[in-house]
Amino acid sequence: MAARSVGLLARSPLCAQSRTPVRLAAVRLLSGAGPVAADIGREEQLPGGGETGSEDKTPKKRFSEVQEERREQAQRTVLIHCPHKFSEKKFLKYLSQHGPINNHFFYESLVGDQLDTLLKELQLTEENVRLRYLTCSLIEDVAAAYFPDCTVRPFGSSVNTFGKLGCDLDMFLDLDEIGKRSTPKTVGNFLLEFQVKNVPSERIATQKILSVIGECLDHFGPGCVGVQKILNARCPLVRFSHQASGFQCDLTTNNRIALKSSELLYLYGALDSRVRALVFSVRCWARAHSLTSSIPGAWITNFSLTMMVIFFLQRRSPPILPTLESLKALASAEDKCVIEGNNCTFVRDLNKIQPSRNTEPLELLLKEFFEYFGNFAFNKNSINIRQGREQNKPDSSPLHIQNPFETSLNISRNVSQSQLQKFVDLARESAWLLQQDGEGGPAPAPRQPWGLAALLLPSVRDSRSLSKKQNRRPASERIKSLLESIKEHSPDSPTATDGKRTMSTHT
Ligand code: UTP
Ligand code: MG
Repeated sequence: MAARSVGLLARSPLCAQSRTPVRLAAVRLLSGAGPVAADIGREEQLPGGGETGSEDKTPKKRFSEVQEERREQAQRTVLIHCPHKFSEKKFLKYLSQHGPINNHFFYESLVGDQLDTLLKELQLTEENVRLRYLTCSLIEDVAAAYFPDCTVRPFGSSVNTFGKLGCDLDMFLDLDEIGKRSTPKTVGNFLLEFQVKNVPSERIATQKILSVIGECLDHFGPGCVGVQKILNARCPLVRFSHQASGFQCDLTTNNRIALKSSELLYLYGALDSRVRALVFSVRCWARAHSLTSSIPGAWITNFSLTMMVIFFLQRRSPPILPTLESLKALASAEDKCVIEGNNCTFVRDLNKIQPSRNTEPLELLLKEFFEYFGNFAFNKNSINIRQGREQNKPDSSPLHIQNPFETSLNISRNVSQSQLQKFVDLARESAWLLQQDGEGGPAPAPRQPWGLAALLLPSVRDSRSLSKKQNRRPASERIKSLLESIKEHSPDSPTATDGKRTMSTHT
């Protein structure tokens, strides 16, 4: 209680008001030592705040007891605002001068928190990732009938940490390693050998391999249904549904370059915690507005959106992400990698990369992302994460995003001018919406979605008197249900001060 009269730790009536979730405040709750420390165990058992599983052996409390404890707890709690850029660690250290801190809670109701919530809700779970590897392993067993010792490897969003629950499972049949074994595999008395007959081209070999694997999956692959052989695509593939896991699978062959770009995205995602949150939000935003689709067409892809986010983060000052060229410069001899004549070298040890000094908050980055691409000169410039700067477009495709390793390829050459224009229009509108949220513009009515939630719901955009011209298709059910969870944290009263955090402590 002593700390109640000391500066930041003082508990005032205002603090109590601030405990109502405020739009722009991150809230930390601290519980202190001394008489309060003894209460901490009890705090953790309060219903609604801890585990309530059937195996819980603690005596059940009466409603009135819980009420009493909560009230008592509230009296030992204060909220403290601290500036945005203030280090949490330093702040805790400062507060601990007034007595040891045994417990603290940190919850945010910022737009940035919504982005984090979205990431946590939609990212692949541990079980889901394991199931993806297991599915590859099962397909490998089928392929091994033709190619003993082959490997089926997952790539793309299943492994690059940008995968959303429900994303497809990209996998490729890796035959490269077979010939490289020092001792051929033996089964009983037989020596297994893999031999490729002469075929006119690599592409035809790929088509033949996928054709037989496709047949095999179709007729004998356990749980493989709806097998389609899409052999005339630029990158031939076999598409099928794997019933047991529920995954939509795309099987290609010898796609090591795509595996390398998955590794690169993994590295970018691991370098800074803001990267994945931003990519997820942009991907969800694009899906909600039908800018992306699971059906192939003139839409922008998630892979392209991810490249755009990485490029944008390379353009910040100071940069949040390094360019691919600088990652190449940090590479050592064992990182050297050339695939089909393409230099895919970059440093793979994350510890060799300096963390960014940039501390911009997520909500600002999201707004700036929309502003940046809402005003990007797509008509003359190309996006290029290798150099980390705009370059003149080498061709006339509406959107040009250079493939990081196959630099002559444009990963978004399928995107039409009208789809690009739709992206630009929506980016501008979204930047405007976030600007309104951040600068105390017209406040949304109580219980109305705000921040990211407002960006995801077309109906909300309409009700806020923005463009009413387009008749948009509804967002996917998954995004809608997620929005509901975000809305639960939304403010009743958007009156908080910008750039402030709020903390509460037991004293
Ligand atoms: P996908 O289109 O499936 O993208 O391509 P994704 O990253 O897995 O995202 P979602 O969740 O399915 O929408 C799979 C991978 O193929 C490579 C990239 O490594 C990508 O992650 N790829 C894709 C390319 O190298 N070039 C392309 O033009 C497209
Ligand atoms: Mg994919």
